[in-house]
Amino acid sequence: MNQTNDSESRFDVFRSEGDLNLSAQRRTWSAEHIGEHARELLAADAKYFLHQSLSTPCLNVLSKVEGAWIEDIEGRRYLDFHGNCLHQVGFGNQKVIDAIKRQLDELSFCPRRYTNESAIKLAARLTSLAPGKLKRVSFTTSGTTAIGMAMKYARVATGRFKFVSLWDSFHGASLDAISIGGEAAFRQGIGPLLPGCEHVPPPEPMRCPFRCGKTCNLTCADYLSYVLEKEGDVAAVIAETVRNTPFIPPPDYWKKIRAACDKHGTMLILDEIPIGLGRSGKLFAFENFGIEPDMVVLGKGLGGGILPLAALIVREDLDVAGHMALGHYTHEKNPVTCAAALAGLDFIVEENLPERAAQLGRHALKLMQQLAAKHSVIADVRGMGLLLGIELATTLPDGSRQPAIAEAERVMYESLKRGLNFKVTMGNVLTLTPALTITQDELELALQILDEVIGEIEK
Ligand SMILES: Cc1ncc(COP(=O)(O)O)c(C=O)c1O
Repeated sequence: MNQTNDSESRFDVFRSEGDLNLSAQRRTWSAEHIGEHARELLAADAKYFLHQSLSTPCLNVLSKVEGAWIEDIEGRRYLDFHGNCLHQVGFGNQKVIDAIKRQLDELSFCPRRYTNESAIKLAARLTSLAPGKLKRVSFTTSGTTAIGMAMKYARVATGRFKFVSLWDSFHGASLDAISIGGEAAFRQGIGPLLPGCEHVPPPEPMRCPFRCGKTCNLTCADYLSYVLEKEGDVAAVIAETVRNTPFIPPPDYWKKIRAACDKHGTMLILDEIPIGLGRSGKLFAFENFGIEPDMVVLGKGLGGGILPLAALIVREDLDVAGHMALGHYTHEKNPVTCAAALAGLDFIVEENLPERAAQLGRHALKLMQQLAAKHSVIADVRGMGLLLGIELATTLPDGSRQPAIAEAERVMYESLKRGLNFKVTMGNVLTLTPALTITQDELELALQILDEVIGEIEK
């Protein structure tokens, strides 16, 4: 695919014939329209799987994923603006599929204490793409386990055991990850969590306990620095570079945190599991903030949007645990997951997906600002690359605003009926994370659907 410098034509490069008549693909979804076969499958799913919030029982049954779209077994297609944040290279990317098939024919697994070319190539490629001193890597299958590995390396490297992380954050669902996570749904009622895990408020002006107002004055960064000083022995600060809601930290936030970590001998670990690999407009989201962490964790789309793979990338001098087995995972050097990742990375670099995300994101944000001017229920729009958010709030008689939780849920289900899938976070933020290969037409269609739906719920 050719990239040009003309931003208008650039967005057309992923257009396929099937995309041209987008509105013809908009069919109705609603619970009442789920057919007999899908109902049976949903009932079977609910019978065999452990039930859990945000997952089982399920909403619908899929038969196909492709590019920016998902399709249910009754042929309804939805633009997927959720995609578990894994579809940077689009669903079912042909180059990734071909690489997986080739690798399966050559070498399908690699037992421990042996290595293979695909794993080595991926390690070399990732560490050459990572900026600065981030030159050592270890692979595992889930973001959660890579976060756990990062926590262990921070403990071994510093000889300290405490962590500071942000309220409202998510780092995975294991016991160590929920100890540093900040969302009640994952951590409440589970008994004692890991000791030494302190939480501080995130840089989020609309919910800021320091009440700095819409313009953040970085009191939260000063407070984090204060906590590091008072504790005196914190192993690491762990945070998502940009919270996936999204919360976009003010430009100097990370510089302040980096300086505080340096001052107090604390590691900085950034979780870029959903937002790395181009979504933010840069390959690594921290590149938007002019800092470098001591460790960064990638996951989700690293497996090319098909296979499970995560990576911990650390500073060269943090290779300090050769006498231990901190990354002792069965699929640590799986040639098939690594081949998928290599093909995915090649695609991201060759198609310059970070730049594409930056340009499309700017366009989307402009359209979202127009929506905000039109619909009073929109309290804020924000974005960084193709990590976009629309926050809904209602105005009370006294003029104060409160999160429009019921309205956000209605917008989500009504959008689904019109062929747009996304998730709502924090109860009232429409969180929009499309494939980075999405066309401008598809992006505009999604925002048009939101315009219609929000207009309807405002009536
Ligand atoms: C920011 C963040 N960290 C960690 C994880 C956990 O990744 P995994 O589900 O691959 O274990 C997720 C998954 O949603 C995430 O969004």
